[in-house]
Amino acid sequence: MARTFFVGGNFKMNGSKESIKSIVEGLNKADLADNVEVVISPPALYLSWAVDHNKKAPLVQVAAQNAFDKLSGAFTGEISVQQIKDVGATWVILGHSERRTIIKESDEFVASKVKFALDNDVKVILCIGETLEERKSGVTLDVCSRQLDAVSKIVSDWSNIVVAYEPVWAIGTGLAATPDDAQETHKGIRDHLVKTIGQEQASQVRILYGGSVTGKNSSEFKDKVDVDGFLVGGASLKPEFINIINSRL
Ligand code: G3P
Repeated sequence: MARTFFVGGNFKMNGSKESIKSIVEGLNKADLADNVEVVISPPALYLSWAVDHNKKAPLVQVAAQNAFDKLSGAFTGEISVQQIKDVGATWVILGHSERRTIIKESDEFVASKVKFALDNDVKVILCIGETLEERKSGVTLDVCSRQLDAVSKIVSDWSNIVVAYEPVWAIGTGLAATPDDAQETHKGIRDHLVKTIGQEQASQVRILYGGSVTGKNSSEFKDKVDVDGFLVGGASLKPEFINIINSRL
């Protein structure tokens, strides 16, 4: 079965009630391709604000940028998947490289959060990717496989996981991976998933590319069979986000 094109917008720690309302209203008014799944991810403080202003559900859904692996309790500052659902969000981004490097989240902790979110009916955008040093040492797929294996060790049903391959060296740098390089790595990721979660599931998992995707370069990935969409940072805050959503038209 063909995989539905998927575009995520990771606003990161950016935005205000006003700016997020205008992004959501821009999506409400836009003519969006009907064969695409769109998930926007504002900062946690604005999740319900985005949900309340979104008029295009379920085509457009809302994701948190992180969640904890406990449902409630004495975990100051953490966000519960129950609260994510309670405000009407349906997805969560986990394992983003900024949390792996800055907050030092381990592969195992990310995996535990992935399992917890799925077990509580929140769908997951699982971020993986290598640093520039790792790329230069030729261990890109070893790193991605290690990050994926931590999850497949404890999660067997991948029907509600979307994988986002985000080479750290392309995030926020303006230096996107070339479509050919992205396709090569995505193919390697999919081949690894065939070995660990089986052919059928691996053929259905969407693998997104993230890292300096823009309204200009997104259409260059059109014919890359293992690039099933994008996870967009900076450009998701701009009107060109709609061009990225429609880049397969
Ligand atoms: O999660 C998406 C993000 O890491 C990509 O950022 O600004 O390079 O599109 P950007």
